[in-house]
Amino acid sequence: MIDHVVASAQSAAASAAASQKAFSQVSTAKGQPAASQAVAARVQTPEPQPAAMSMEAAAGVNVFSKAYTQRTRASGDQRRQYGRYLADSRAVAGFRSETKSMLYPIIGAKGLGSHMTDVDGNHYVDIAMGFGVQLFGHTPAFLVDAIVGHVTERGLFLGPQAHLAGDVAQRICRLTGNARVTFCNSGTEAVMTALRLARHATGRNRIAMFQGSYHGHFDGTLAQAGPGGSTVALAGGTPPGMVDDVLLLDYGDEDGSLEILAREGASLAAVIVEPVQGRRPDRQPRAFLQRLRELTRSTGTALIFDEVLLGFRVALGGAQAWAGVRADLVTYGKIVGGGLPIGVVAGDARFLDALDGGAWSTDDASVPRGDRTFFAGTFNKNPLAMANAQAVLTYLEQQGPSLQDSLNTRTENFVARLNRVLTEEESGISVHHFASLFRFAGASDLFYNHMIQNGVYVWEGRTCFLSTAHDDQDLDKVEQAVRASVRAMRANGMLTPARRTTALTASLQSIPTTPSQQALRMLAAFSPQTSAAYNQSLVFDFTGAPDINVLKAALCGVVDRHEALRTTFPEDGASQIVHRRLDPDIHIVEFDRSADDQASFQAWVDATALTPLDLEHGPIVSAWILRLAADHHRLVLVMPHLVTDGWSMQLMALELAQLYNAGLGGRPSGLQPPFPYRSYVEHTRARADS
Ligand SMILES: Cc1ncc(COP(=O)(O)O)c(C=O)c1O
Repeated sequence: MIDHVVASAQSAAASAAASQKAFSQVSTAKGQPAASQAVAARVQTPEPQPAAMSMEAAAGVNVFSKAYTQRTRASGDQRRQYGRYLADSRAVAGFRSETKSMLYPIIGAKGLGSHMTDVDGNHYVDIAMGFGVQLFGHTPAFLVDAIVGHVTERGLFLGPQAHLAGDVAQRICRLTGNARVTFCNSGTEAVMTALRLARHATGRNRIAMFQGSYHGHFDGTLAQAGPGGSTVALAGGTPPGMVDDVLLLDYGDEDGSLEILAREGASLAAVIVEPVQGRRPDRQPRAFLQRLRELTRSTGTALIFDEVLLGFRVALGGAQAWAGVRADLVTYGKIVGGGLPIGVVAGDARFLDALDGGAWSTDDASVPRGDRTFFAGTFNKNPLAMANAQAVLTYLEQQGPSLQDSLNTRTENFVARLNRVLTEEESGISVHHFASLFRFAGASDLFYNHMIQNGVYVWEGRTCFLSTAHDDQDLDKVEQAVRASVRAMRANGMLTPARRTTALTASLQSIPTTPSQQALRMLAAFSPQTSAAYNQSLVFDFTGAPDINVLKAALCGVVDRHEALRTTFPEDGASQIVHRRLDPDIHIVEFDRSADDQASFQAWVDATALTPLDLEHGPIVSAWILRLAADHHRLVLVMPHLVTDGWSMQLMALELAQLYNAGLGGRPSGLQPPFPYRSYVEHTRARADS
């Protein structure tokens, strides 16, 4: 029998703070962080935590990390040498204690075509491709000629108007169908400027954007869902006022979002949308974008297509051409600069005219219109960037739409190949793509480390790209690296098994997340380790040996009863998927420390609770049955705060005890059907919306 019902139930964060707490008393997750605190914690690096992997995986990581750090020693040395001087967010992305020895950026020495060489002299097939900039591969001859030719003939100088700016603007208009264009130096600046133009032209302050999109790092778009339907800043140092005027919408909930927009549209200056989100390439809502166009037109709201990532990649005319939508404003960057910094704001003269007063002539009585706004930048229309952009646009125009079409088809076939490999290997990983952009879903940081070790370079943001320079041999090499990586990981216990994603797809149901779940899910996507600090743990004490089979059945029974416990959370945070069955992960562990060593037991629980759960694929409940002595066992349950709180943990504990005790006696548990989780979610969302 379970004799102590709930030994202790606490969040991992609270648990870490109270490691000496007695676990024979009933306690709930007091002081557990609220969702709004989760927001503030989003960009915090967690304190180093004790290793909490399986022994096998930890040993595997140890061996692998020696090989990895040896092979990329010069990259690691740079971080060690310059880390104290170079403040580098990239160097800390995805931090977790278990893999921190491998956490340093690979330093590039040279890039040519589809290949990159690092400072250690390792050669890679590069599928980061300059974060999506290098559509033609690294160092294409026509771009080298453009830059060298420019510097040789004209020098490296700034001040007068760049002589190619007008021509580049005209070419962009011709290829994309936009009426006017202006230049800045990054996608972020382009987004910031487009929003300013929309607000200026409409005289409205509010804007709408979608969950899961990335629009760069301008404070005005660093927003995420807060408690009660509010919008809060995504990062420390962004004053709340910067996002007060931001309305956040679900990108997955087309009807819901359009309904809100129909209601709120008259007060909105703009709706900014990443037509296919870089983090969710599988979601391609063309019909939704067309409906969005109609709606924004009817409410006088500017529709902004953020095509910094997709422009010139998905089609020659960009995402507008793909979606069959003419936006009011469009932002570009990346590809069009050919490797040099650039941002482009393009669109309707109604908006762009605010920069120069619209069409007027020096030869007649016309004057610029007075209703202008401010815009400037030392490096705007940088002559070198203009020379490169002219070469990119000339090349694209010469090649015609078949360049994008054939690269898209090539990527589609390649991704299908990778998915076959990943399924054959039962890896639990899959690949999604849009155009020539693709992302691995369900892959851990260790997978990417293995890819690098196997000669394929992937950057810290993980979005991958094919370029026109990738040939068949390169694709073969990437496929081999994928296979070798998952095999090596499996051999060393580092791979999460695939059973539930393959077996359960027929029984899925998707429901929207609540605002506080969205905040927690975003936290998990950004920093799994920080998110794990919100995990909750529950400890049970058994005097005598439990009947393991009955206990397992009771655990599965509790999970079966509650949809929340068999839910997974796709990376975008907008929806959650309820599985018909999603059995918990159950580990049986021989606990080799003495049973009465409370401190070492508590340290183990703390470390275990801080292990990130696989929210995307599940199971989201992990259980450890610890044998401390022949007559003393403990059961430790860990689950995310996304679906549990102190009250529901207590309930779970009671149900588990009832199911277990009934199972031992071979009688029915007598438990009543639980309150449906879906109703709770609907209720919470309705309250947030009201
Ligand atoms: C869709 C989108 N918008 C804006 C940006 C910001 O561009 P940049 O990094 O050039 O500031 C990015 C960058 O990846 C992007 O993907």
